Amino acid sequence: MYKSKITGLGKYVPDNIVTNDDLTKYMDTNDTWIRERTGIEERRWAVPGDGNTTATMGVKAAKIALDRAGLNPKDIDFIVFATLSPDYYFPGSGVQVQELLGCDTIGALDIRNQCSGFVYAIATADQFIKTGMYKNILVIGSELQSSGIDLSTRGRGVGVIFGDGAGAVVLTRSNDESHILSNHLHSEGKYAKELTVQAPGCTNPPKKLAEDWNPEDITYYPYMNGNFVFKHAVTRFPEAIIEGLKTNNLTPADIDLLIPHQANLRISQFVQRKLQMKDEQIMNNIQKYGNTTAASIPIALTEAWEQGRIKPGDLVVTAAFGSGFTWGSNIIKF
Ligand code: UT7
Repeated sequence: MYKSKITGLGKYVPDNIVTNDDLTKYMDTNDTWIRERTGIEERRWAVPGDGNTTATMGVKAAKIALDRAGLNPKDIDFIVFATLSPDYYFPGSGVQVQELLGCDTIGALDIRNQCSGFVYAIATADQFIKTGMYKNILVIGSELQSSGIDLSTRGRGVGVIFGDGAGAVVLTRSNDESHILSNHLHSEGKYAKELTVQAPGCTNPPKKLAEDWNPEDITYYPYMNGNFVFKHAVTRFPEAIIEGLKTNNLTPADIDLLIPHQANLRISQFVQRKLQMKDEQIMNNIQKYGNTTAASIPIALTEAWEQGRIKPGDLVVTAAFGSGFTWGSNIIKF
């Protein structure tokens, strides 16, 4: 059995900074509420005409990751793309990356697991490398969520949270101790409607696309039962982390850096307390970017690496919880 390791990391966020105060132009909210309940101070939102889409932001992050891995697009054997906000209803964004990067006619797979998307994407790519099918895989998490947010006071519970951006890693066949130790994936579909965008959908009768869109129809906007999701998140995050650590005979004290999905600073702080971890063992950057869903882990992972917080030999754990519900973790030796 082969092993895979991360050989390149990249991130991209739009230039446009939207502060909490900026949001008061659209809805009844305030900086104090947003900071105290979520930790968020600002987020990046793409601006119409700036060229940013979920696919193009993914490409920008991927180019940096490829460069740092010392590879070019022709070296890539497969693309795994995690997003809840694809450019098109179909096809997925992975095929756009294949075209925009100029890769050979390699396979491209989209992952639809929302906040857990990147954890699922890493796990998926890892399996293709372990079996020997592929050697270099580009794994991307990217979201352009600002265009789909309900900016009225009605949507403020969700609207203030989400941001845009992308992160990418290159996974490469490993011949040394640096590799992905294990992946742990879960779901509980009975809670699918607690965090969802219901339309458009292929139900019967179908909720269709643009021509039917009515701004007053809230099924086209993200809905989240915030308290309910929060309570499950603070249980499932530690569970997924402990499960991964136990599999490898490790404890929270062994973690050099935990990269939690950036859902809410209070969730990360709760997880940190529960696992009795030190501040330097956990990465939080939700303050600057908000919740970028499938992009939050690769953005945080890349930023931590750029800041020198991840060194060769470090034990890095990623963990996520979100819509589905889905949750999971990756245990990674750098
Ligand atoms: O990434 C995927 C997974 N997502 C998560 O894990 C997120 C989990 N949930 C959360 O992070 C939190 O539940 C939220 C940040 C979404 C909401 O925080 P909360 O502390 O649970 O607030 P709440 O929904 O209980 O609302 C409390 C009050 C309400 O007013 P009343 O009924 O007490 O008068 C809301 O109407 O805060 C009000 N409120 C706001 N006020 C100002 C809700 N949103 C806002 C807002 N600005 N943006």
